[in-house]
Amino acid sequence: SEYETILTERTGRVGVVTLNRPKALNALNSQLMREVVAAVEAFDADDEIGAILITGSEKAFAAGADIKEMQPKTFAQVYGEDLFSQWDRLSSVRTPIVAAVAGYALGGGCELAMLCDFIIAADTAKFGQPEIKLGVIPGIGGSQRLTRAVGKAKAMDLCLTGRNMDAEEAERAGLVARVVPAADLQAVALEAATAIASMSLPIAMMAKEAVNRSFETTLAEGVKFERRVFHSTFATADQKEGMAAFVEKRAPKFVNG
Ligand code: HXC
Repeated sequence: SEYETILTERTGRVGVVTLNRPKALNALNSQLMREVVAAVEAFDADDEIGAILITGSEKAFAAGADIKEMQPKTFAQVYGEDLFSQWDRLSSVRTPIVAAVAGYALGGGCELAMLCDFIIAADTAKFGQPEIKLGVIPGIGGSQRLTRAVGKAKAMDLCLTGRNMDAEEAERAGLVARVVPAADLQAVALEAATAIASMSLPIAMMAKEAVNRSFETTLAEGVKFERRVFHSTFATADQKEGMAAFVEKRAPKFVNG
């Protein structure tokens, strides 16, 4: 494979990216960042891929940015290279991305999971933003995305105390979409990604874009945006097919057009 810190595979129309630095609990070093971004962008550009799944190991989704790699850096270096800014490219990916999280999702690991469109967690998952214990703060969007996901009270609690929350608390708080037994995580996440990939890809992209717009705009503007995009779905063959299939009591055959 062209990658050393991740594994990639295709399962039907799902592109799977598995973080694979087991000795460092999948700590996110610069090579892994480059490889994840490259692999996800390659799947995004691939017409045969309708959903992307990002996952880690049973013990760790990712235990954060690589502390050993960061430790010696000066301000001028982290500012000069704009450390971690490449992760932002994941928020421009248009194909839906599911995160399957077991074990530790701490610091940058929690932030990477939040860069995905939704999180399915094993009951073993632990989420947190412990950066403060290292004398830094979240740097891959954690202070912003966690606050939007769980509200100010819990985001402040996690960012200021550095404590972890378990999967149950994370689901109650709205950070994760579903919690499943650890043994079922990969199957359930693949099933969800496969379901998404069976839809019309342009329509799935529109749904993702509409939900994401809610974070960037007022309610009235967001509803207007949604309405216009909804109207535009009627310009697609897949709207004709989806509704015809319902009326004719058969499964739709989407053509991604
Ligand atoms: C580099 C890491 C690492 C990390 C674990 N390892 N996390 N290496 N960066 N973030 C390495 C350990 O050094 C160790 O390597 C090996 O992985 C196994 O970890 P252990 O600590 O021995 O495992 P365990 O006792 O099970 O504890 C698991 C853990 C702990 C609780 C997750 O590893 C931990 O607290 N990790 C750091 C979590 C963290 O602070 N994350 C936030 C990072 S800052 P060796 O070679 O010693 O065996 C961050 C910043 C984002 O993400 C942007 C703002 C700057």
